[in-house]
Amino acid sequence: MKKHFLSLFIMLLLLFTHTACISKAPAGKNTLKSVAGKTPEELLASMTLAEKVGQMTQAERGDLYKGDITEYALGSVLSGGGSTPAQNTPEGWVTMFNGFTEESLKTRLGIPVVYGLDAVHGHNNALNATILPHNVGLGAIAAGNQERGAQAAYTAGRITAEEMRATGARWTFAPVLGVAEDVRWGRTYESYSENVGIVTLMGANVIKGLQDNGVAACMKHFLGEGQAKDGRNQGNALLDRAGIERIFPPYRAAIEAGALSLMPSFSSVNGVKMHESKDLLTDLLKNEMGFEGFIVSDWAALTQLSGGNYKAQIANAINAGVDMVMATNGRDSWVNFIEHLQELVNEGKVPITRIDDAVLRILRFKQRIGLFDAPLTKKAGAIGVDANRAAARTLVAESLVLLRNENNAIAKLPSYKRILVAGQGAHDIGMQCGGWTITWQGKHGFITKGTTVLEGIQNAAKGKASITYAESGKVEGTFDAVIAVIGEDPYAETEGDRSNQINIRTRDMNMLREVYDYNCPVIVIMLSGRPMTIGDEYKKWEAFIAAWLPGSEGGGIADVLFGSKDFTGRTPYTWRKTINGEVLFPFGYGLTK
Ligand code: GLC
Repeated sequence: MKKHFLSLFIMLLLLFTHTACISKAPAGKNTLKSVAGKTPEELLASMTLAEKVGQMTQAERGDLYKGDITEYALGSVLSGGGSTPAQNTPEGWVTMFNGFTEESLKTRLGIPVVYGLDAVHGHNNALNATILPHNVGLGAIAAGNQERGAQAAYTAGRITAEEMRATGARWTFAPVLGVAEDVRWGRTYESYSENVGIVTLMGANVIKGLQDNGVAACMKHFLGEGQAKDGRNQGNALLDRAGIERIFPPYRAAIEAGALSLMPSFSSVNGVKMHESKDLLTDLLKNEMGFEGFIVSDWAALTQLSGGNYKAQIANAINAGVDMVMATNGRDSWVNFIEHLQELVNEGKVPITRIDDAVLRILRFKQRIGLFDAPLTKKAGAIGVDANRAAARTLVAESLVLLRNENNAIAKLPSYKRILVAGQGAHDIGMQCGGWTITWQGKHGFITKGTTVLEGIQNAAKGKASITYAESGKVEGTFDAVIAVIGEDPYAETEGDRSNQINIRTRDMNMLREVYDYNCPVIVIMLSGRPMTIGDEYKKWEAFIAAWLPGSEGGGIADVLFGSKDFTGRTPYTWRKTINGEVLFPFGYGLTK
C-alpha cells in the first residue's frame, strides 16, 4: 500500500510541475531533474565549449537552414515582429515550434531549444488572436484605479499566455518596463505610463498573469529607455545613481514577481550603451539586485557597441553580463557569433566562468518553464476565443478617458435618432490595434479578426438610431450628432519617433472641417499611442475621448458611449497642447461622465 501511495505522490508532484504555472526560482540548489535526468549543473559539467556557446545563441527563424539547430546545438530561435509560419494558424505555429524542438532533441545532449516572440498585447503575431489594448490603455485603467489596473494587467497576461500556449509558444519578450517621459518617443504606447508606480504595478501583474498560465516573461528594456534625450528611441539618458534608482522599482517588482529573463535597452546611460554596461547589467542587476534569470540581447544590438568590430563587440556584451545573443542581422551574424565567442574564450578574453554562468542561467530557465519535462506541444488549441474577446472588450471600455464633455453630450447620445460616424479610424482594425499587430509596424485595414468602433456603435444603436458612416465626413444629410474618430497611423519603435509635434493628421483635420459644417455636437474619439498635440482644436468638440490603441475589440468603446457605464480611465500621461507646452490635461485627469 505504502509503495502505491508513494508512486501516487510522485505522480502528483510531477503533475504539479507539469502544470502551466512557471515556478519561481526555488531557493538554493536546483533539485528538479532536467533533460537526460540531470540537473542544469550536471548538464553544464558535461558540455563542450561549442555546446555552451550554442546555448547562448539565438537566431531568427528566417536565418536558419534545416538541420542548423542540431549541427550548432542552438539554444534559442525567435520570431521578429511579424515573422510567422507559412500557415499562420495555431496548427501552423505548433508544427513550426515542434520542428525546431525536434531538431534540438537530436543534439548530443538533447537540450530543447526555447522559442521567443513579441506577444506584447495578446499573441499579436498570430492571425485572429485576441488583440488586447496596448500598454498605454492598460495604464489608463490603473491611473483611474490601481486595483482595477492590477486586475487588468493580470487579465492581459493571462489571455496572452493562454493564446500563446494554444500555439505552443512559451516565452514572450514582454512587458516593457520603461517609464516614458517624453511622448515623442515612438515606444510611448508600449510603456504603461510616465508614473513609475503605475509601471511597477502593471509590470509585476502582467508577469504574474503570463507566468501563472505557462508563459515566461522577459522584462525589457533595461534601463532608462524612457529617459533618452528628446524621446529619441535608442538615444542617451543622463542618469545619476538617484536617477537610476528612481526608475528601478518596476524591475525590482518584476524580479520579485518571478521574471526569469530580461532584455537590455538599445539606449545608453551617460553615453554607455546598456548592452555593454557591466555596472548596470552585472554589478547592479545581477549582483546587487540578485537577478537569477538570464539576459538576452536585443535585435542585432551588439553591432551598435564599441570595439570597432563584431568580435570585440561580442566580448564587450558577454563580459558586461549578456547571457544570450539575439544575433539577427542575417545567418552569418549567428554563425560568426559562435565562432568568435569560442575564439574569445580560447584567447582568454572572455572567462569560461562567464560562459558557465550564462549557460547555467539559460538551462535553469528552460527547466523552470517546463521545456525539459515536456518540450513538444501535443496539439494546437484555440485562439481568439469569445471569452477572451469579451474580457478584452471590457479592458477597452475601462481604458477610455473622457477628457471633455460639454452640455452632457455623452448622456444625450442614446437619445439621438440620426448619427454620423466619420473618420478612417472608425472602421479600421489595423488603426485601432497599432504596431506589433500581425506585422512589426502594424498597418491599416482589416488585418485580423475584430470589431471596429463603427461596428460597436452600429450594434449599440440598432433599432434606436440611424447610423451613417462617411470616412471623409462628407455626406448629404442632417444629423443630431457626429462621432468623429481621429488618430495615428500604426507604427513601432523608431518609426514612431517624432522630432517635433504630434499633430492631428491632415486626413483627420479635413474630415473634422467637413463635420463641423453639420452644426451639431461633434464627439471626437482619438486612437493614438500617446497624447497628440491638439492645440485648441478640442474647443470645437462637444466631447473628447482618448481610446488609446484598443486592439481588436474596438466595439468596447460603444459599450461606454451608449451604455450606462461610467468612464473609469484617467490619462496615464501629462497631456500638453504642444510638445513641452502648456498642460491641457494633467496626469491622472479624466471625467467620469
Ligand atoms: C526589437 C525590439 C524588442 C523586441 C526585439 C525582438 O527591435 O526592440 O522590443 O523584443 O526586437 O523582436
